[in-house]
Amino acid sequence: MNELDTLVERAQEAFAAVATPADLENAKAQFLGKSGRITELMKGMAALSVDEKKSRGAAINVAKQAIEAALGARRQALADAELAIQLKSESLDVTLPGRVRAGGGLHPVSRTLERIEQIFGTMGFDVADGPEIESDWHSFTSLNNPPNHPARSMQDTFYVDLQGEDGTPYNLRPHTSPMQVRYAHQHVKKHQALIDAGQSMPEIRVIAPGRTYRVDSDATHSPMFHQCEGLWLGENVSFKDLKVVFTDFCRTFFESDDLVLRFRPSFFPFTEPSAEVDIQFQSGPLAGRWLEVAGSGQVHPNVVRNMGLDPERYIGFAFGMGPDRLTMLRYGVNDLRQFFDGDIRFLRQFQ
Ligand code: DAH
Repeated sequence: MNELDTLVERAQEAFAAVATPADLENAKAQFLGKSGRITELMKGMAALSVDEKKSRGAAINVAKQAIEAALGARRQALADAELAIQLKSESLDVTLPGRVRAGGGLHPVSRTLERIEQIFGTMGFDVADGPEIESDWHSFTSLNNPPNHPARSMQDTFYVDLQGEDGTPYNLRPHTSPMQVRYAHQHVKKHQALIDAGQSMPEIRVIAPGRTYRVDSDATHSPMFHQCEGLWLGENVSFKDLKVVFTDFCRTFFESDDLVLRFRPSFFPFTEPSAEVDIQFQSGPLAGRWLEVAGSGQVHPNVVRNMGLDPERYIGFAFGMGPDRLTMLRYGVNDLRQFFDGDIRFLRQFQ
C-alpha cells in the first residue's frame, strides 16, 4: 500500500473515531487544513520535474478527494444521528388524551329554583327579587309580628347593628316573606290611580325565591338556606285556590300525579288560618311518609293593610317553601350541608 492510500485510510479511521461535529472539524484540519498532510504533500512537489508534478499531483488529488468524500460522509452521519436524537427527545405522543377544560354546571338548588320559577311562570306568577339585608319592619312588623311578640322567637334571626332605611334595625332576612309586602307596595304604586278611583286593581300573583338566614346548623339546617315565597292576592282568591295551585305545583315538580298533599293546621303571624303543607309519595323510596315542604295560609288582614290595601276588599293566600328541602327530596340527598360544601364529586352528579 503506498503512502497516499495509507493517508486516506488514516483519515477515514480518524473521522470514524470522532463523536461530535466539533471533533470532526479538528480531525479534518490534520488532513485538509492549511498545515495538514495534503497541503504538506503539495508543498513537497516543488522540487519535482514537470512530468513528475503531473502524475504526483494527480495522485495527491485522488487522495484529497477520497479524504473529502470520507469527511462529507461522516458529517452527514453525525448530523443524521443528532437529528434522530432530537426527534426522539422532542417527539409528541399524539395518543395522550388532551387537556380538557372542566365545564361548569348548575348547582342542584339552582336547578330547583329554575324549575319552581318555570312551573309558577306557567300559572301566571311573576318572579321578584329583594334585599337579603332587610329592615325589622319588613321582616317582622309589617307581617303582623310586632316587636317583643313571642312569635319572633320562631326564627333565630341574625341582627345587624345598623338602622334600616325605614328607621328600624337591619337583620339578615330569616324568610322571604318580607317580599310579600315589598312587592305589594310596588304593585299598589303602579295601580294607585285605579285604587284611588275605587276600581279593581289587577291581582297580585308573585313568587320570590332567594337566600335566607338563621342561626341554625345541622344536617337539615344551615345558617344560609333558600326559600321561595308565593303570594296571590285579589278580590276573590281563597284557600281553595291555594290548595289547587300548590297541589299542581308539587305534582309537576316531582313529576308524580298521585302525590298527596295535607294541609296541617299551624300558626304564622302573617296568615289566618295557617297551615303547614305536607306531601306524601305513593311510590319510590319515600312512599308513605309525610314530608313537610311549606308553610302557608290566608294572608292576615293586618298584612293586607300594611301592603296599602283594604283587607275588606283584597284577600288571598301566601306560602313559603324550602327549595333546599325540595332538592333533597327530588334527588334523594340526605345531608343539606353537601349543597354548600362545594365538593365537585357531589356536584358533578347533577350535570
Ligand atoms: N315565612 C315562614 C317561615 O319562614 C313560611 C311561611 C309560612 C310563609 C306561611 C308564608 C306563609 O308566606 O303564608 O317559616
